[in-house]
Order: sequence, then structure tokens, then C-alpha cells
Amino acid sequence: MNIAIVGSGYVGLVTGACFAEIGVNVTCVDVDRNKIEKLKQGEIPIYEPGLKELVLKNQKAGRLDFTTTLESVLDKVQVIFSAVGTPPDEDGSADLKYVLQVARTIGRYMTDYKLVVTKSTVPVGTARKVRHAIQEELDKRGLDIKFDVASNPEFLKEGNAISDFMSPDRVVVGVESEKAKELMTKLYKPFLINNFRVIFMDIPSAEMTKYAANSMLATRISFMNDIANLCERVGADVNMVRNGIGADTRIGRKFLYAGCGYGGSCFPKDVKALIKTAEQNGYEMAVLKAVETVNERQKSILFHKLDAAWQHELAGKTVTLWGLAFKPETDDMREAPSLILIRKLLEAGCTVRVYDPEAMNECRRRLGDAVIYARDMYEAALDADALLLVTEWKEFRLPAWGVLKKTMSGRLVIDGRNVYDAGEVREAGFEYHCIGK
Ligand code: UDX
Repeated sequence: MNIAIVGSGYVGLVTGACFAEIGVNVTCVDVDRNKIEKLKQGEIPIYEPGLKELVLKNQKAGRLDFTTTLESVLDKVQVIFSAVGTPPDEDGSADLKYVLQVARTIGRYMTDYKLVVTKSTVPVGTARKVRHAIQEELDKRGLDIKFDVASNPEFLKEGNAISDFMSPDRVVVGVESEKAKELMTKLYKPFLINNFRVIFMDIPSAEMTKYAANSMLATRISFMNDIANLCERVGADVNMVRNGIGADTRIGRKFLYAGCGYGGSCFPKDVKALIKTAEQNGYEMAVLKAVETVNERQKSILFHKLDAAWQHELAGKTVTLWGLAFKPETDDMREAPSLILIRKLLEAGCTVRVYDPEAMNECRRRLGDAVIYARDMYEAALDADALLLVTEWKEFRLPAWGVLKKTMSGRLVIDGRNVYDAGEVREAGFEYHCIGK
């Protein structure tokens, strides 16, 4: 089977490499010449564990190819996945410019049946617009060629994307025809292990499923952050509460960790977009609005703890951040809590020293010389008055407190991810604060 994947960003590359791995012939398309040239030479523009190896292997095997022109591969492919970006508009709704450009190119150049699958996260009703754009282009050419549209939202987690794709909990596909269903079944069948199945549904429901899933997860996080903040005030421990409620199978144990707020390319954008879709349809998503408010507040919580511990005397102090990426195993800093924290620290007159295993270049690109970049976690803590854990990378889990005690000038540790044992840190001679206890 031959397929094309348009948009060689995060989702497109992972999808392309994984389909190639099961024997599909994949052409990845992107308008960015520079990116495609680099990919052809085996250079991967993003950091994702296992992706580079998979791309190189399948490229070598001749199953994975790259191009800048969709029209040049249209004749040889039957299925086209669209995984182009949908950046938020100023008002928070998803910008469909790229999605519709892809649809128009397909309509302009196709000569036989195509199945056009939208993988990008797009608002309910987008498939209809894609269908319309393709049809309009066909009409201009005076051609009557059959095609189908489908929606196949992506649930990949950054840092775990390859295994999420290779052994997914579920694949959701919205279709309108038997032919589309057959083709999608054929493509996803090789991943059918452990009772996993493709969940077929109508297209608007598939489009809605993506937003509902991410909004539900974001809601769990903001809910737990709210509970954590209250725990602190009433003398409870959010970790114990989490264990207590997580044992209820209706609630479940996952995604209940309080912290310094959610970030990334998905949750903030999707929550905003769903609020917007509701507004456009005369409805108010009251819960999701609160989810956003709580998250915004939570992103400043480490700063407020520091401010309280130092009784508002922050100017001239040196603060170390361990972790910059919005979560471990990625170099992604989009909507990262670290950015809010750094901005507030700088405004308060602090010197900020940072270290992250993967996101240093990304941070340099965003902040330039505003902060001091260290080569490792201990160098970052040198002469620091306080140490703030922002992203829970594995290498930060078991620090040598003895070393830190010698090299730091202060004794304050604020754990934004609740990973340290309070007793152990305090015994080592530090003042320790965390979230929700
Ligand atoms: C998410 C969804 O999980 C994925 O299905 C979707 O396709 C894209 O969005 P991702 O953005 O990669 O994936 O990150 P995820 O691992 O879900 O974490 C999101 C944010 O929530 C991070 O900032 C993380 O630190 C935070 N989080 C997660 C918590 O604060 N507490 C938790 O218990 C879990």
C-alpha cells in the first residue's frame, strides 16, 4: 500500500515512520524545503526517543521517502493523511489555512479515487470543509472523481509517541463510507494486539473525541491542582489523597499528579479551542473555563512559594531551575510553566540559572542571554539561593544533597513535581516545599 503524509512535523513524522515500519510505502510531504532536505539526509528536526532510528531504518529499506510537492506523489498513493499544523488564531480558535490548502492541492491534481484522512486536531465540522474544498477544485476542472474524507485524531504523547503509535489503547476513526472503513482497517490491522480495536464512528464524533479526551485530562490535572492547594491550607497531603481516590476504579490512578500546571502543544490549545467552538455554537463550557483559570494560576505557584519563603525579598537572589521542557523526555517548551516562572523571577530582579537535559537550545532560542545556562544539574545549582524542580526528568530524581549543600549558597528547595522525600531533603539540611502538603 502507498500512502502520503502531509506535514512532517511531530505527528506526521511519527505516523510516517510507524506506518513504514509495518511495511507501508510512505512519502512524507512538507513545504519546508530545508526540513525535507535535512530529513533526506537523516536529520530529524525534533527530539523524540526512537524516532531517528525508525526514520533511518525505513528510509534505508526504501519504504520512507520525503518530498516538498504533494502533487508529485498523488498518482501513486491511495490514502493521504493530513498532519499539518493548526495554530491557534488570535481568538483561540484553530486556524485551518494549512488543512484546507492540502485539500485544495489534492482536488487540483488527483486523477483517481483518494481517501483523505485528517490527523491534525481540528474543530468539529472541518471534514465537511475539507470535502467541500476538494469538490470545489474538482468542479473547476469539470471532473467527477470519487473520494472520501475521514477523521483519525492523534492521541500520541510526546516522549512516548512511537510506542503509543505501535501499541495504542485505541484508534478512533470517523468515516462516511464502507470503502474508507475498509482502507483504514487494512492500514491499522497490523497494530491489532491485546484486544486493541479501531473504534469507528461518524466524522463529527471522531473530531469531538480528540477535544473531549484532552479536555478531560486537562480537567483532571486542574482539579488535582485545586485539591492540592486546598490540602496545603487544611493540613492534608495530596499524595495520600491521590492514592485514596485513585484506588476507586471509576477514577483510576493515572493523570492525578498535582504539579506546577500543564503545558505543551495540545492541552492549552485544545481546551481553548473547545471553549471557542462552544461559544460559536451558543454554549458556555463553564468547567473548561475554570480548568484554564486554575492552570494559569498554577503556573505561578513556584514563584509564589519562593516569594513567601523569602518574604518578598527576591531582588539580587540567585535561583536555579532544574527542567525547562513542559514535561520530561522532550525538548518542547511550548506553554511550559518554566517560561512563566523565569519571567516572574527576572522581573523580581533574580539571577536565573537553568539546566535541562534536552531543552537548552530551545530555551536559548526563546530567551537568549536572559538566563545563565549550565552544563549539568550541579553546575546549575552553583551559588544558588534556591533550587526549583520544574520538570521531573529522571536524572533529577536522586540528587546528591551533600554536594548541593556544599555548592549552593542557600538552603531552599522547592519541588514543583512532588518527587522528593520531604524527610530526606530536610534531614540533609534543606528547607523543603512541595505542592499540596
Ligand atoms: C497530550 C495527550 O496526553 C495526548 O493524548 C494528546 O495527543 C496530546 O496531548 P502531551 O502534550 O504530549 O500529550 O503530554 P502529556 O504527557 O499528556 O502531559 C501534558 C501535561 O500535563 C504536562 O505538562 C504534564 O506535566 C502535565 N501533567 C500530566 C500533570 O501535571 N499531571 C499529571 O498527572 C499528568
